[in-house]
Amino acid sequence: MALNFKHSKLGLGTNKVGGHNLFDNLKDQDGYDLLRAGIDAGITLLDTAFVYGLGRSEEIIGDVIQDYDRSKLVIATKAAQDPAHELQLTNQPEFLIQSVDEALKRLKTDYLDIFYIHFPDQKTDKRVAVAALQEIKKAGKIRAIGLSNFSLAEIKEANQDGYVDIVEDYYSLAHRDAEANEWAYLKENQIDFVPYFPLESGLLTGRYGISDRDKFSRLTDETFNKAIHGLDVLKEIANNHQVTITHIVLAWYMANPNISHVIPGARDAAQAKDLAKALMIQLSEAEYQKIDDTFK
Ligand SMILES: NC(=O)c1ccc[n+]([C@@H]2O[C@H](COP(=O)([O-])OP(=O)(O)OC[C@H]3O[C@@H](n4cnc5c(N)ncnc54)[C@H](OP(=O)(O)O)[C@@H]3O)[C@@H](O)[C@H]2O)c1
Repeated sequence: MALNFKHSKLGLGTNKVGGHNLFDNLKDQDGYDLLRAGIDAGITLLDTAFVYGLGRSEEIIGDVIQDYDRSKLVIATKAAQDPAHELQLTNQPEFLIQSVDEALKRLKTDYLDIFYIHFPDQKTDKRVAVAALQEIKKAGKIRAIGLSNFSLAEIKEANQDGYVDIVEDYYSLAHRDAEANEWAYLKENQIDFVPYFPLESGLLTGRYGISDRDKFSRLTDETFNKAIHGLDVLKEIANNHQVTITHIVLAWYMANPNISHVIPGARDAAQAKDLAKALMIQLSEAEYQKIDDTFK
């Protein structure tokens, strides 16, 4: 079922909030500050995961949200990496149920708006895994069931009973594979889609150029070159709106009817505050289409 949350389409990715195991030189205080800056600037959806700091990101978010009206926030978290077994992936029902309970404690809340199985494992029947989440959804501990990094075949296996609400996958203007691979099935089954890496780890902010090819190894030569060319088009539109390329890119995702919400990651309070400016931008139909065509 499609989500029906009353939230803006701009969320905040929080792998740099307490994600000491993923990024060097992070300070917890920057995480606290960036969350407050983002929420104060109008961002109401936070996307975290157990694996971001092995619970630390959730703990920091849990501390911060105590100062805000919980009912106005949408909190999404994920689990699949088992800390008792060297972070091996597991989708076993008992593990997922325990993960939700532990996330609730760290986040200091009594429900999660979205709980994602972060990655598929090799052995669990996906229908059984999701059925276990459906039970805890009925109990009110989670409001939506999500899958992340599942192939289309795995999504179909998991959604045999129609319990999957939302899918989170790698997607950006520079990497649009999900459109052909997943979107038709998701739409047909009223499953929402949220892209991660929406700024293509900084490339779609306009901070990098052709000489930074080696920093973006996820992209093929073709998609990298297309993105570099596309930055000129984005810059022109950004200049017309007197904003930055980052804001235009985020506004494009928010205007895309196939995208539920977008979760750019911030490193500090200044970035989080800046990201929220995208909420003010309304692209014209022609601008939306020009960006779409440029990055096709
Ligand atoms: N489900 C999954 O498996 C999965 C996987 C990856 C990510 N995610 C989620 O998706 C979120 C987004 O991914 P991401 O953060 O890795 O990549 P991203 O959103 O594509 O890029 C974030 C980077 O863009 C730059 N940036 C952010 N705000 C900026 C601003 N206002 N001005 C200029 N540059 C700015 C920063 O780069 P610098 O740090 O270089 O300054 C920041 O680290 C994550 O936080 C996480 O919640 C989920």
